[in-house]
Amino acid sequence: MTVEHLERILALTWPGLERDQVGDWLLRAGRGVTSRANSALVLGDPGRPHEDALDAVVSWYRARGLCPRLQIADCAHREVDAACARRGWAASSSAWVMTRSAVLDASAGAPLLGRQRPAALPDVEVEWSDAPPSTTDRDRAAEQTATPALYATLCVGGAAVGWGRLAVVEGCGVVTDLEVEPDRRNQGVGADLLEALCCKASESGATQVALQVLVNNPAHRLYRRLGFSEHHAYHYRTG
Ligand SMILES: CC(C)(COP(=O)(O)OP(=O)(O)OC[C@H]1O[C@@H](n2cnc3c(N)ncnc32)[C@H](O)[C@@H]1OP(=O)(O)O)[C@@H](O)C(=O)NCCC(=O)NCCS
Repeated sequence: MTVEHLERILALTWPGLERDQVGDWLLRAGRGVTSRANSALVLGDPGRPHEDALDAVVSWYRARGLCPRLQIADCAHREVDAACARRGWAASSSAWVMTRSAVLDASAGAPLLGRQRPAALPDVEVEWSDAPPSTTDRDRAAEQTATPALYATLCVGGAAVGWGRLAVVEGCGVVTDLEVEPDRRNQGVGADLLEALCCKASESGATQVALQVLVNNPAHRLYRRLGFSEHHAYHYRTG
């Protein structure tokens, strides 16, 4: 899958509450919470000189009381990135988009065996809902629920200890919001939860699963262990 195709899929799973286009660039606005829902995704050709396209982005976001922000794949659109740098727009640290097959075949299952699980978790249950957990901030929830998704809660012995979100678009399951209670981390909960999300993605017709992770987040190691590999990296530029 090309970077552009995968980015379009990712954008559909977290689209913001309002959208517009500057040529091929996709402008998204939400309630100012998540960068994904409140940034312009740089794709293809903006249909005008870059400086004019950036001016259009600035006007669109300022009209909504938001900072202008671009999402740019690290491997492409270097001239757009340079134009942002000339304007003094700050670059965020990069994030990886990682992908794997929804179902690992026997040979690809080897990374799972690379680490000894401390112990089988007792009474593990995954509950599914089409609404985010009630603890989610209202504005963030509004941005998330702009597109249908399934929300998993992993319970151990009846207590909720881990959460994750799955949206399936065009045969690709996109996992976001993976989180485990701090005092339950490093006990295999995250791995179990991610496998449950991948299984659900497969049941929902996905052949691929994708997720995003900051390059300096150690969660990256967990994802590699579960068979994910780096597809491409991206960063934001904020004016
Ligand atoms: C990422 C997260 C969900 C993993 O959950 P978990 O229950 O600890 O995961 P597991 O016990 O199955 O696996 C532990 C692995 O997580 C990775 N990991 C993630 N964050 C880590 C941290 N702060 N310190 C050490 N390891 C971490 C490591 O790969 C570790 O295994 P390894 O040391 O053998 O490589 C959890 O650390 C978390 O909630 N982090 C904060 C939120 C977050 O960053 N979510 C991911 C966003 S992309």
